[in-house]
Amino acid sequence: MIAIQIENLTKDYPVGFWRKRQVRALDGLNLTVEAGETFGFLGPNGAGKTTTLKLLMRLIHPTSGHAEILGRSFTDVSVHQQLGYLPENPFFYDYLTAEEFLNYSARLFDLPAQSIPSKVTALLDVVGLPAARRLQLRKFSKGMLQRIGIAQALINDPEVVFLDEPMSGLDPIGRREIRELILELRRQGKTVFFSSHILPDVEALCDRVAILYAGKLLGCGRLDELVPQETGSMELMVGHFNETLRNELQAIGKEISMAGNLLRVTLADQGALFRAVEAVHRRGAHVIRILPGKESFEDYFVKLFAPPGGSARAKPL
Ligand SMILES: Nc1ncnc2c1ncn2[C@@H]1O[C@H](COP(=O)(O)OP(=O)(O)OP(=O)(O)O)[C@@H](O)[C@H]1O
Ligand SMILES: [Mg+2]
Repeated sequence: MIAIQIENLTKDYPVGFWRKRQVRALDGLNLTVEAGETFGFLGPNGAGKTTTLKLLMRLIHPTSGHAEILGRSFTDVSVHQQLGYLPENPFFYDYLTAEEFLNYSARLFDLPAQSIPSKVTALLDVVGLPAARRLQLRKFSKGMLQRIGIAQALINDPEVVFLDEPMSGLDPIGRREIRELILELRRQGKTVFFSSHILPDVEALCDRVAILYAGKLLGCGRLDELVPQETGSMELMVGHFNETLRNELQAIGKEISMAGNLLRVTLADQGALFRAVEAVHRRGAHVIRILPGKESFEDYFVKLFAPPGGSARAKPL
């Protein structure tokens, strides 16, 4: 089943003092997201990610194009009952406490009053904020605000969750918690559509990704399909080695260098890898890590988005 179908979605923003000029922030986007997918929406600053999410949420109106969510037009208000949304820069009511804010959000969805307290408690737990229940939002840190924003996005138990940069402003622990939360949503069969710059998070979470650049879709698919696999080369990290082993590995490997106090050996193919691992074992050293030699997603991303003099910003029309 298709959860989100985007057809030719285009957005021009009026700019300039008289608002007569236009910039095209999104240019004929076509995209399909299956139900239950965790879908990553990637692109550098200014690519049009937030614009797309705001269009889908009907916070702004498209210049042209259409979208369907859960089989209904995105203009159909009733479908929004089944959607959750974390905006990029959530604006919160500073003087409400976490609990009051979630109560308020629940009432916006017309949830039955008796179900609200238990729901609020459960969500505060899910996002790791039970202790902040009675704390005013103005006293929240950036990471705490991000979490309460996510709790708010889940208050109506949505089928499809849109998250605009859910990991932004979070420390590594916070990021991991949000990752786990997204995985939990996936386990529950929800569709999660999230934008991000944080590539390892996208790599760890997404079934498929779309890559947007200057308002245009550059590619869409599974990560291993999008990122070209290089040769079968591998990188072996070795610890507790001695000179003899180092010399042996030098003969087996293509390249050898130090990484901290580890030895990094690049091996051309599987055969060389097995010989190197065997040597490590024989000399009583330790294999610390074996990494695929393929181009990392990050390398690919940087290459893709860093053409000399290139910019991801919307172009004036
Ligand atoms: N209200 C607006 N008026 C005019 N131009 C806008 C407006 N909002 C966004 N833009 C332009 O549209 C383009 C896309 O912006 P958008 O915020 O969608 O990018 P983004 O991919 O979310 O970037 P980021 O990663 O920085 O959040 C940018 O060039 C931006 O300057
Ligand atoms: Mg954005």
